Amino acid sequence: MAQKTDFPLNPYIWSEPIVNERLFINRTWELSKIDGFLERLLAHDKTLLSLFLIGPRKRGKTTLLQTTMRRLAEKGIPYAYVTLTRDHAFLSPYELVGDVFLKQTMIQFGIWKRYLYKIWDTLRRVKKAGGGFSGSGGEIEVEAKQKLLDDFSPRFRHVAKKIGGKGYPVVIFLDEIQYYQDNQPQSVPILLSFLRTLIEVERSFIFVMAGTSDFINSEPIASNFQRLPVGPYDQDEDAEEAVEKPLEVYNEVNGTKIKFDSVSKKVIIESVKSVTDEVDKSDGYNPFLINYLCHHAFDDCIKKKKKTVVLTRENALHAASNLQIEEYRIALIKKLSESMP
Ligand SMILES: Nc1ncnc2c1ncn2[C@@H]1O[C@H](COP(=O)(O)OP(=O)(O)O)[C@@H](O)[C@H]1O
Ligand SMILES: [Mg+2]
Repeated sequence: MAQKTDFPLNPYIWSEPIVNERLFINRTWELSKIDGFLERLLAHDKTLLSLFLIGPRKRGKTTLLQTTMRRLAEKGIPYAYVTLTRDHAFLSPYELVGDVFLKQTMIQFGIWKRYLYKIWDTLRRVKKAGGGFSGSGGEIEVEAKQKLLDDFSPRFRHVAKKIGGKGYPVVIFLDEIQYYQDNQPQSVPILLSFLRTLIEVERSFIFVMAGTSDFINSEPIASNFQRLPVGPYDQDEDAEEAVEKPLEVYNEVNGTKIKFDSVSKKVIIESVKSVTDEVDKSDGYNPFLINYLCHHAFDDCIKKKKKTVVLTRENALHAASNLQIEEYRIALIKKLSESMP
């Protein structure tokens, strides 16, 4: 059972991915795909493809990655999580793989640091030896690239064997990959050919990526990735669960008996459906918007020391007008102004 101390004061988290397993709303379809992927991993399936979660921001991609990592940890499969930021957008593919992917993986692998360091060092040496990029197009010179790959692969194979103790590939999670794609589309083929080398070296590494835009499909490595589109919740039950479950868990942890007002629940679900339809152009319920509205209604309830969570006209419009994402803000204000009593 969750401990009170590590449980959030407000169970409706909207500003970060959900890491607490008990607050995770089950996404049956997405999880069945992820489970299929994990099964192949556990069965040492050599034809296993890497996985690529694609979807607009705030859809639950990172939350699904977190859930996948928990499952890997339970099964003793080694993994590392790396997230890109704006700072990584203009790095060369060398720097991205060496200074970011490998360096962060090193930090997370503790005892394997030494081995990963060797790979990183190889990358650096090749770079120093002239394996740079010609012109501004980010094209890597053919010879330098070959040298890098020749030099790189044996080391990588060695390290991969050491890390994947039980013979499982090491799963490297790369989140927010669009920072790179959107800013340097011309370097993506080089980056991908690196990653493909890593995947192909005795299938020692597997990548799970998440991002908002797809790679160019014609890239050879595109066929190494199994795509998993992450949409809004597509079931009515998921939307209901998203409103009810966090409160149930909160009550259980805190020994309280707070209820969710049924009219408020209906208004939240209906307005989120309408905004998802209008802004996201998809049929379903945006997970972030449900949590966002529930969060504010819950806050109000706690502040006023009430026993029922109610979405009032006041707290609803206050929440909506503070929404940072413009399209959602406009659509939500409009919808709530119509539907709130
Ligand atoms: N499975 C889920 N269970 C509960 N809340 C979720 C879930 N997926 C997404 N959310 C909500 O959506 C928000 C954004 O999720 P996140 O994983 O950060 O999306 P992305 O990585 O696609 O931007 C979370 O803060 C949470 O409010
Ligand atoms: Mg994310």
